Amino acid sequence: MQAITSGAAPVYFNEQIYSEITRYIEQYSPSSVVILTDDNTYADCLPLLLDQINFPMEPNILVMPAGEAFKTMEVTVSIIDELSNLLTDRKALMINLGGGVVTDLGGFVASIYKRGITYINLPTSLLAMVDASVGGKTGVDHGMLKNQIGVINNGAMVGVDIDYLATLPENQMRSGFAEIIKHGLISNKDYWSAVRNFDPGTMEGLDVLIRDSVVIKSDVVLEDPTEKGLRKILNFGHTLGHAIETYSLESDVMDDLLHGEAIAVGMVMETYLSVKRFGFPESSLYDLMNLVRSYYRKVSFPENALEEINTYMLHDKKNVGGRVNFVLLEDIGVHKIDQTIDPELIKEAFEFYVNEV
Ligand SMILES: NC(=O)c1ccc[n+]([C@@H]2O[C@H](COP(=O)([O-])OP(=O)(O)OC[C@H]3O[C@@H](n4cnc5c(N)ncnc54)[C@H](O)[C@@H]3O)[C@@H](O)[C@H]2O)c1
Ligand SMILES: [Zn+2]
Repeated sequence: MQAITSGAAPVYFNEQIYSEITRYIEQYSPSSVVILTDDNTYADCLPLLLDQINFPMEPNILVMPAGEAFKTMEVTVSIIDELSNLLTDRKALMINLGGGVVTDLGGFVASIYKRGITYINLPTSLLAMVDASVGGKTGVDHGMLKNQIGVINNGAMVGVDIDYLATLPENQMRSGFAEIIKHGLISNKDYWSAVRNFDPGTMEGLDVLIRDSVVIKSDVVLEDPTEKGLRKILNFGHTLGHAIETYSLESDVMDDLLHGEAIAVGMVMETYLSVKRFGFPESSLYDLMNLVRSYYRKVSFPENALEEINTYMLHDKKNVGGRVNFVLLEDIGVHKIDQTIDPELIKEAFEFYVNEV
């Protein structure tokens, strides 16, 4: 599968990754190699990586606890301590092998350790493959706030090997697919139709779907690396979706949602807003609803959920000057960024999901 070399960090696919990493190590000649994993990718993914590459020196393997709860400064500092104890110098190479938590935190550590060492992302979750590992955003959560601390800094390359997905739990697979659906809505009709026609039963064509998704993300990032404008389209479905995700995690009366499960709900609501505000085609809204129904269970909201979701939206870090900013669509691939929405219409969109999906 052809590499993507237009972005700030080239993206290689499947077997080619390992020859590229080997070549990179030969050329760059790092003083040491550090591989960051989490508990799960240490057990499930590291053997595959070590099988594929003959490292010229024994790599140092670091393991962090798995999960978003550990994407913190405390874990960052503990990894930095481990690097110091290993006498890791500025010419070390760090390889982040894991989901978005490992690539975000590992990229951040690599960006600040001794003012920065070079790093490679090897995403192992679907979400990290099509989203988190590409684009150079690194960082950790702090207090209640997600991605509160971080830098934008690209690694030397990204390697997407779908063989890692064999051990990814099914709910994580579906969660990651939400970003593929998002890329379908914000890109063009061809990709949207490829997403709709994908059969998760056979998984046929998943590699092409992932590659095209990476192209979509990397093209957007290339045009707007620091999120001044266009990059905001990657937040489609995330204004409501992210508030719904946070609410589900904070509330005792609702089941926790995975990121993609919440984003799927957010995308339905924000597509509804797009229909009402910009005449987005209703038929595509119904296509989206069918897709969402086929991948995700219907989310039931407790009474008064919307009030709290609204409060979480006010804390969205993408807001400017206290305004809640939405990205909406006029059609598949036609964007309207920085939109404010009347609370009554948000209520309508919420009820639309509750009553119609
Ligand atoms: N930097 C960005 O641009 C960007 C974009 C989107 C999301 N993110 C971040 O990504 C994170 C979410 O990423 P995620 O969904 O990958 O979460 P994650 O890293 O927590 O991975 C999900 C779970 O799957 C496990 N796992 C991963 N790969 C596996 C495999 N191949 N086999 C078995 N288990 C595996 C992990 O150990 C974890 O338990 C969030 O912190 C989010 O903020 C960053
Ligand atoms: Zn997302």
